[in-house]
This record gives sequence, structure tokens and C-alpha cells, in this order.
Amino acid sequence: MSSTSTIVLRLGLLLLCSWSLLPDGRSLVAAATPVPPIRAVNLGGWLLTEGWILPSLFYGIPNNDTLDGTQLQFKSVVQNRYLAAEQGGGGAIVSDRTQASSWETFRLWRINETTFNFRVFGGQFWSVDGTGAVVATATTPGPSETFQIVRRNGDLSRVRIRAPNGLFLQAKTMQSLTADRGVATDWSDSDPSVFLTTTAGRMQGEYQICNGYGITKATEVLTNHWNTYIKESDFSFISSSGLNAVRIPVGWWIASDPNPPPPFVGGSLKALDNAFDWAETYNLGVIVDLHAAPGSQNPFEHSATRDGTQNWGTTDANIAQTVQVIDFLASRYANRTGLLAIELLNEPWAPGATLSSLKKYYQDGYNAVRRHSSTGYVIMSNRLSIEDPTELLQFASNFSSSVLDVHYYNLFESKFTNFTVQQNIDFVKNNRSSDLNAVTRKNSFPLTFVGEWVAEWDLQGASKEDYQAFAQAQQNVYGGATFGWAYWTLKNVNRAWSMEWMMKNGYISVKS
Ligand SMILES: *[C@@H]1O[C@H](CO)[C@@H](O)[C@H](O)[C@H]1NC(C)=O
Ligand SMILES: *[C@@H]1O[C@H](CO)[C@@H](O)[C@H](O)[C@H]1NC(C)=O
Ligand SMILES: *[C@@H]1O[C@H](CO)[C@@H](O)[C@H](O)[C@H]1NC(C)=O
Ligand SMILES: *[C@@H]1O[C@H](CO)[C@@H](O)[C@H](O)[C@H]1NC(C)=O
Ligand SMILES: *[C@@H]1O[C@H](CO)[C@@H](O)[C@H](O)[C@H]1NC(C)=O
Ligand SMILES: *[C@@H]1O[C@H](CO)[C@@H](O)[C@H](O)[C@H]1NC(C)=O
Repeated sequence: MSSTSTIVLRLGLLLLCSWSLLPDGRSLVAAATPVPPIRAVNLGGWLLTEGWILPSLFYGIPNNDTLDGTQLQFKSVVQNRYLAAEQGGGGAIVSDRTQASSWETFRLWRINETTFNFRVFGGQFWSVDGTGAVVATATTPGPSETFQIVRRNGDLSRVRIRAPNGLFLQAKTMQSLTADRGVATDWSDSDPSVFLTTTAGRMQGEYQICNGYGITKATEVLTNHWNTYIKESDFSFISSSGLNAVRIPVGWWIASDPNPPPPFVGGSLKALDNAFDWAETYNLGVIVDLHAAPGSQNPFEHSATRDGTQNWGTTDANIAQTVQVIDFLASRYANRTGLLAIELLNEPWAPGATLSSLKKYYQDGYNAVRRHSSTGYVIMSNRLSIEDPTELLQFASNFSSSVLDVHYYNLFESKFTNFTVQQNIDFVKNNRSSDLNAVTRKNSFPLTFVGEWVAEWDLQGASKEDYQAFAQAQQNVYGGATFGWAYWTLKNVNRAWSMEWMMKNGYISVKS
């Protein structure tokens, strides 16, 4: 090295040192963590399973069409009527409905590949009463609530159901379902113990994959997934693509790694540790995102719910347990230069998640982060399905370095169904920008974060140029978020949902 370049280098180091304390007290070492505005990508489907992102993860589960939360409807071939829980639960199961809706839909709790509890709309479980009739009165399932689905040649669409007493259920009349058929079946339309099955819904989240495989096999499948799906090379790619952070969804059981409560399996914590190592190598910030809270904060598979039931926030103990998870994550990662933010909760769903329970949790969760980190950003998500997206603004403004997360998809609502390319783009330019403005404050916390968006729409057959224009319009608008944005998601079998695919194929480019 020539002496001139040595001097230049020294001068550079000197400058770095003299700037090493930023006005807000954060050191330049910490400034290796990117500062807002953040341009991030979500690492969805990695440490928290969502089957639609990578369906093949579920291929090895025997009878993978009857996982926890699968919604089944049964039609008696003899009565030509659907089974129903009278009043939605609390009484008899009958066989007299011509159409199937919520009272005619039963959610599975899986014991093993052939054995299940059947949960009715009101939350009760099927059992057989003293007269041999099937009723939905049990509030917790035990051996008496355990039934077997027997398929014709492995086919779920034509089944018999064996009761705990060993006999098959039959619909001898429309007004009853009784556990009293012992004879074999020819599967014909004249057998009152034969039912046609319709699947009305499925879930493929963490609960389903873990309970579907069972602990041993699930540990093997998920460990392999954690080690192969996202690797150091992905962080290198992300960093070289103009992005400066990753948002990593995790589930609450990560805090009890390596021995989480069943059916969850341990090992994801090691993968998160790796993510921090790689993020620091490539100067990326990490947003640790509690995406699945104990009890499930929304009815979707990504909250790790067993059957779509949402119980998060209904007791103080549950909130305290969730704060413990945040405390754990904050204590483990607060000193890492890669830590950019902790997101307290993803997509709480109203009305189940009440505003008052959410505020209590955000207050306590914020304090938990601050016990370990005086400067890290703390992200609070807006509730989904609310009228007023500003409902948390005033509250969040009380907290230093707070961030409000809003998710913008031109999907999932009927108003988008027939939108043209231009209507989609105009909606982003006009409506989303005004939505974002409404929650973005000048010179005050919370900062705003569009923590999920995607260049996908209901539109079929759009051209590459259409996608490019849509992606660019969104970047332009979401670039106005004061904390930044994160694309959903890095990898996905559906290509528009894969930012990696969109970037590698020239659909999206990000200017750093
Ligand atoms: C179940 O696994 C098979 C492969 O074994 C796959 O073809 C099928 O799509 C899976 N079904 C579901 C519901 O995931
Ligand atoms: C499923 O569980 C039931 C009830 O515990 C048991 O009788 C049955 O043998 C189990 N089947 C399999 C395939 O493990
Ligand atoms: C983080 O750093 C502080 C200050 O250096 C230290 O007191 C604390 O023990 C560290 N915490 C962890 C979890 O390493
Ligand atoms: C903000 O904090 C103050 C002081 O702790 C409290 O009195 C006030 O109720 C808080 N405001 C909101 C909107 O939560
Ligand atoms: C979309 O267009 C179809 C066909 O014209 C129409 O039947 C449907 O009602 C429209 N949906 C909405 C939400 O506007
Ligand atoms: C978008 O905003 C405009 C202007 O406020 C409004 O008239 C329009 O209904 C909005 N579009 C949708 C689809 O909500």
C-alpha cells in the first residue's frame, strides 16, 4: 500500500471515528444497521409455516387432506341431507339440511391420520350420549369425543365414521345421528352409515404441519427446511439487490426452544441466530416479527391457530405470556448490531383482538423491549378489519422509536375483483397514498411501515410491463412511509409473490 493511500485510509478512519456518535446517541457501529427508510423483504414461510408458500412441505403427511382445522361437511346418502349441529352446537347432530353452511361444517382436531375430534360452529365437540345419539355438548375433547374416519379406498369423498363405541354412525332418520351400525358396508347409496364429504376449508400452518407429521418426523422435515430454504446466499442476494433489511416472521414457541410445547418442534431459534450472523455480514437490518402469538391473534393459518379459533388477548395471563416472548427475543438480540426492530404482533384481528387488550399488550411489550434496548424500533401493527386505521396513532405517539405497521394488498376484497391494470395503479396512487398519509405524522412517532405488500392482483393475464408498472407505483407510494416498506415475500411458488423471482426476471428493481 502506498503511503498516500495509507494517509487517505487513516483520514477516512479519523472521519469515521469523529462521526461515530450520531446526534441521537446511537454509535456508528450501530449505524451499520440501516436507518429508515427501510426497503425490506419478508422471509415468509421460513421459520413459520404457510403451506401456500411451499405446498410440498405437506406432501409427506399421511392423509394430508385431513389436518387440524380442515372443515368438512357430510351428506347422508340415504337422507340426501347434510349433517348439522342444531343451533350451531349444544344439542343434537341431525341430518336434515338441504344446504351446507356454518352449522353444517365441522372442524377437525387431528389425533392421528385416521382419528379425529369434530368441532362444531359453537366450539363444542361431537360425542355419543347415553341413548347412542351423537350430540355436540362437550367443551373439551377426550376419548369419548374421538371418532375415526373410514374412507372408501382411501377416498375422503365417501366415508363412514366410527364412534368411540366401535360402531358406525348412521342417519336412520333426518332427526338423528346414532352410533349403532355394526355391519360391514357395500358403500352403496342405501347404506345409512355412508356419507359424502365436502371439504369447505383447509389450513396449512405450523400447527398443521407439526401435528400432521408428529414430533419426530416434523423435527426432521422442519430442520431440513430451516437449513435449506433460506441460506447465507439469500442474504447476499438481498443485500446486492438494493434492499437493506429483512422482516422475519416467527412463532411464540421460539421462546421455549429447544423444547416448545406440543405439537411445535424446536430448532427455529438456531436458524434465527444464523439470520443475525448473515444479516450482519451483509449489512442488513433484521426485523423480528412475532407473527403467531399464543392463542392466535387472528383466524389465519399464519397465526398458528389449530382450527381458526382466535383466543389471543382474552386473558391477562395470555398477554403476559406474549410479553415474555418479546422479552426473550429482545434479551437475546438487543446487543446484535443487526437488530433493527422488534414487531410486537402481526395482524391482530378485530373484534376478537380488542383495542383495549392490544393497547395493554403494546404498552407492556414496548417496556419489555426497552428493558434490553434503549434505541431499537418497536413496531405495533394496526388491527385488520377495522374502520378507522388511525385508531392507534395517538396511543403509539407516546412511545419513542415506535413504528406503526400497515399492510396494503390489492387483493382479498371484492372491490378489487374486476379492477383493470390502470385502476389498480390509480388505487395505489390515490387511495393508498391518502391512507398512508392519514397515519403518517410529520416529525413525530410513530413512524409508518408498509410491512407487507406485493405486486400481485386479482387480474389475470397481465403482461410483464403491467407488473412492472404496478410494482413501481407501489414503491413510489410506499417509499413515503417514514420507516419504510417490506415486500411479501422473498420466495414463493407463486412467482409474483416471490420477490426473488420478480427481481431476477426484471419485474422489480429497487434503487438503493
Ligand atoms: C398431499 O400430498 C400429496 C403428495 O403426497 C399432494 O399431491 C397433495 O397435493 C397434498 N394435498 C394437500 C391437501 O396438501
Ligand atoms: C390413532 O389413534 C387411535 C386412538 O388413540 C388408535 O386406536 C389408532 O391405533 C391410531 N392409529 C394410528 C394409525 O396411529
Ligand atoms: C448487552 O450489552 C450490555 C452492555 O454492554 C451488557 O450489560 C449486557 O449484558 C448485554 N446483554 C447481553 C444479553 O449480552
Ligand atoms: C400517553 O402517555 C401518558 C402518560 O403516560 C398517558 O397519561 C396517556 O393516557 C397516554 N396517551 C395515550 C393516547 O395512550
Ligand atoms: C365482476 O365482473 C363480473 C362479470 O362482469 C360480474 O358478474 C361481477 O359481479 C363483478 N364483480 C364485482 C365485485 O364487481
Ligand atoms: C378511492 O378514493 C376515491 C376518492 O376519495 C373514492 O371516490 C373511491 O371510492 C376510492 N376507491 C375505492 C375503490 O375505494
